[in-house]
Amino acid sequence: MKYTIACIIVLFLFGKVSAQSKSEAALKAKISSIIRKMTLEEKIAMLHGNALFSSAGVPRLGIPELTCDDGPLGVREEIKRFDWASANWTTDSATFLPNGSAIAATWNPLMANKYGVVIGEEANARKKIVMLAPAFNICRMPLCGRTYEYYSEDPYLNGQLAIQSVKGIQSQHVAACIKHFAANNQELNRDSVNTLVDERALREIYFPAFKAAIQQGNAYTIMSAYNKLNGYWCSENDFLLNKVLKNEWGFKGVVMSDWAGTHHTVAAANNGLDIEMGSSGPYDQWYFAKPLLAAVKAGQVSVKNIDDKVSRILWLMYHTSMSANHPKGTIATPEHAKTAYEIASESIVLLKNDSHLLPLKTSAIKSIAVIGDNAVRTFALGGYGAGVKAKYEVTALAGIKSRFGKTTSISFAQGYKANYLASKTDEQNRGYDKPDQSLIDEAVALAKKSDVAILCVGSNREYESEGHDRKSLELPFGEQALVNAVSAVNPNTIIVIMAGAPYDLNEIKKSNHTIVWSWFNGSEAGNALADVLKGVINPSGKLPFTFPVSLHDSPAFNLDTYPGKGLTADYKEGILVGYRWYDTKKIEPQFAFGYGLSYTDFSFSKLSTDKSSYKKDETIHAKFTIKNKGSRSGAEVVQLYVSDPVCSVFRPEKELKAFEKIFLKPGESKTIEMQVKVADLAFYDESKKAWNAEAGEYILDLGNSSRNIILKTKIAVK
Ligand code: BGC
Repeated sequence: MKYTIACIIVLFLFGKVSAQSKSEAALKAKISSIIRKMTLEEKIAMLHGNALFSSAGVPRLGIPELTCDDGPLGVREEIKRFDWASANWTTDSATFLPNGSAIAATWNPLMANKYGVVIGEEANARKKIVMLAPAFNICRMPLCGRTYEYYSEDPYLNGQLAIQSVKGIQSQHVAACIKHFAANNQELNRDSVNTLVDERALREIYFPAFKAAIQQGNAYTIMSAYNKLNGYWCSENDFLLNKVLKNEWGFKGVVMSDWAGTHHTVAAANNGLDIEMGSSGPYDQWYFAKPLLAAVKAGQVSVKNIDDKVSRILWLMYHTSMSANHPKGTIATPEHAKTAYEIASESIVLLKNDSHLLPLKTSAIKSIAVIGDNAVRTFALGGYGAGVKAKYEVTALAGIKSRFGKTTSISFAQGYKANYLASKTDEQNRGYDKPDQSLIDEAVALAKKSDVAILCVGSNREYESEGHDRKSLELPFGEQALVNAVSAVNPNTIIVIMAGAPYDLNEIKKSNHTIVWSWFNGSEAGNALADVLKGVINPSGKLPFTFPVSLHDSPAFNLDTYPGKGLTADYKEGILVGYRWYDTKKIEPQFAFGYGLSYTDFSFSKLSTDKSSYKKDETIHAKFTIKNKGSRSGAEVVQLYVSDPVCSVFRPEKELKAFEKIFLKPGESKTIEMQVKVADLAFYDESKKAWNAEAGEYILDLGNSSRNIILKTKIAVK
């Protein structure tokens, strides 16, 4: 109500402004004229939180509060204005969307866009101007507690998804807040660690998705990370916020701190932070409240700087809450559920199907044993800012019952206890990894008398969470013992893993023929999973990160840089993150980046390029033919990697430069063209402080994972 009145006043005072249709210059003039009417106190009030999720407006000028909400998996429930407890609304149940790594596993930017549209529509229904999403820090280290929120280990895949998520959210006149800028790749010590990252790694690995989301997605806000980067807090890092983000990339929007991630007044104000956000009051004592006013009066922060910050906020408002034809929004609609289902069904990764047990031949199956706590667990809540009060969530058991229950008897056994809470200490959680023999016995008895056993294991939203990293890659809760016992008595055992980050599946991979990877897959997770098991959906998800055989194989552990020494994490692997490391070092992964099977087979042929030699400002057009050789419709994600074998600097074995998800009917073939700008073959040349696409020969590798290259060709750059 208050919001509506504020909007009416805004429209009355400023007239209907269509920021999109008026030139940016006219908007700038309008904003300047508003700023001229404001007192310094009013300006400063806009630059810091006045409650948990808002900063002040200027009521006398019709400027509304800037309202924010988490988060990446769906619009978070309304909490009280001044504490984290639920506001107990009855109208804020939302659509729970698949988690970040699930979206990334679709390898389909269209899915990221649809995700964004749902977030934007639901944010509008809740009157939120800024959505603290998407989150896409690089998955550098497999144990990072927020891996499930993030997208991928690869900067290009990350960027393509980030652009579309932002576009989707902002298509609804809601600001996306891309986070966390930058190099926030571990949760342990996240608010005190100093990450040391060389400039080449920043430019080639950690920055590209942020740059793309800003320059191609036009993101209106960005959240600075908790950690320090190369000695300076990200919320007061001149290089990061002023030099790169605002000056080089031309970012016009607002830099918001992570919650309580501001450390000083003058340094933050002068080095690029625009709004200080956080949790508890007194709000007028925050760095960007009275101390900022004092700093301006003392001449330590200029009025010009303050005006720039306010003008950025107003610019964002004119594109969102103060925009003309601002959509009303809708929440938890059947259309949104359909999007959640579509994303979930494209995200599920078939890891192994050696005996072709999948898709299940329903006519031959009389009984299914569904086993495992994850079969009945919901995944919407947990993980602080990434928790969603879901309107509903279809569990795996419910999905399997709805898809198979008419013709098949379905029984359930819990199998293991998930005794782990993110809020507890290690001591309090002790013993969480022990199997429960009585639950295993019960599961074994059920599996023995059933035609098929579907074992739903993995982790949950307590075990993977913001605020802490996992301790190991092992499956928790004694699940391996359960898997072994059930697989021993039922040859038709399907292992379904629900989790958001890499795990150690070495033993399962050796001893089990059928493995399906699902995620924290949203409101429709159970239906999507059951449809994959039944063959209604042909799986097309691909891993967005490498699963290492052991933790020691992964770069951060191999080089002993995690969690860092004395609160310093030196990213010694530089640009060798993810498959760039495994492929260059010839370390065999457990499952490769980009890997995932289908119920059909594809063949690739005739890779060619439009020319054999290119100038530096040209674009390579690579063509190939793909055919669905099987009898089912399906989709393949074709990945184009490029390598630069002779170069003046060291380069990774290969780098992803293009990809496309291609849907094909049985027997159908398509000729596909992929484009790569020669400029995008460049490395960041630290000696020149510039991108450098050196002349010489490049190899184009076309395949369906970083380890399965099917066709190759060469080009030259002049
Ligand atoms: C998280 C952010 C989140 C914020 C507000 C922080 O702890 O790092 O991602 O948006 O809290 O909940």
